Amino acid sequence: LPLVIGLDLGGTQIRTAVLQGSKLLSRVGLLTGENPSPERVIPRMYDSIYQALQEAHVTLDEITGIGIGAPGPLNSRTGVVFAPPNLSGWINVPLLDIFVEKFQLPVYVENDANAAALGEFMFGAGQGSNEVVYITISTGIGGGVIADGRILEGISGTAAELGHMTIDWRGPRCNCGNIGCWESISSGTAIARRAHELIALGRGEGLLNFALAHQEPISGDDTPSDVSRAQRNEIHINARMVAQAAQAGVTEARDIINTAAEGIGVGLINVVHIFNPERIVLGGGVVQIGEPLLGPARRILQERAMKVPAQSAKIVMAELGSDVGLVGAGALTYYNH
Ligand code: BGC
Ligand code: NA
Ligand code: ZN
Repeated sequence: LPLVIGLDLGGTQIRTAVLQGSKLLSRVGLLTGENPSPERVIPRMYDSIYQALQEAHVTLDEITGIGIGAPGPLNSRTGVVFAPPNLSGWINVPLLDIFVEKFQLPVYVENDANAAALGEFMFGAGQGSNEVVYITISTGIGGGVIADGRILEGISGTAAELGHMTIDWRGPRCNCGNIGCWESISSGTAIARRAHELIALGRGEGLLNFALAHQEPISGDDTPSDVSRAQRNEIHINARMVAQAAQAGVTEARDIINTAAEGIGVGLINVVHIFNPERIVLGGGVVQIGEPLLGPARRILQERAMKVPAQSAKIVMAELGSDVGLVGAGALTYYNH
């Protein structure tokens, strides 16, 4: 397979690699930055490509294509990024044209989770099946669907925004503007948000104490109460910490993880009913929580979903691990568009 560039644009990191198939010849990670406007991020994407080339001792002439995975919604045919809920400041950015102009190479732009689905399908846990759904649960929730061996694209190229399917229409507001999206219920952000809310309501004492015991004390001469510090996000509680607290027996942390797990189960029911996949591949940091999250989700799926599609859906972990986005982005250059 020819040498290609894979770039995975995320809310926190720009990851870039020189790849040959699923083999990484280099790997570069740059911070996306606090203010991720395209004016700031795109030059950093260029830098990451030059760094990845340098690290792999490869010149641009040896590269046959560039694949970019980016948060959606985006049009994978035109390569225009519309307005991703988790990448503020990006409105109708013609990413594909910008990169073709800059590098004079074939460029492919695809939703990050669609690209990851392709990566797992070609090189990972989806190999050997033509019906694969990939789901990433991290800051957001993303999905990619391989149906009959092809990426499901939809009329505008935005298909498989699985994180924004409505799970609870009376639920919390999502970053995308809709109410009760899967992402607003079961993502890492949702888990952390619920922890902060409980503390603000005065019902998260166990969690607060756990968080205080597990992070650097802040310095400063005014000493606000712990609760108001937590409210002002000075005590940072992330999903991993909530999971650890749950493991340690903190009741309200257990409730939060259970709620997220229930949401995952319900989302999986919808996925199974709609796509009848043979494999559901799970990736992203939040699934690392493991059984406390996935056990209840699997149980809900088996109890409530239609028997046949539920039983034929094998749930597996992403084989490409944290490189899935990179390998998937690179795989776009090998895919017959
Ligand atoms: C976006 C998806 C993306 C996912 C993971 C969601 O908020 O809408 O397009 O795949 O986050 O990055
Ligand atoms: Na998608
Ligand atoms: Zn949404």
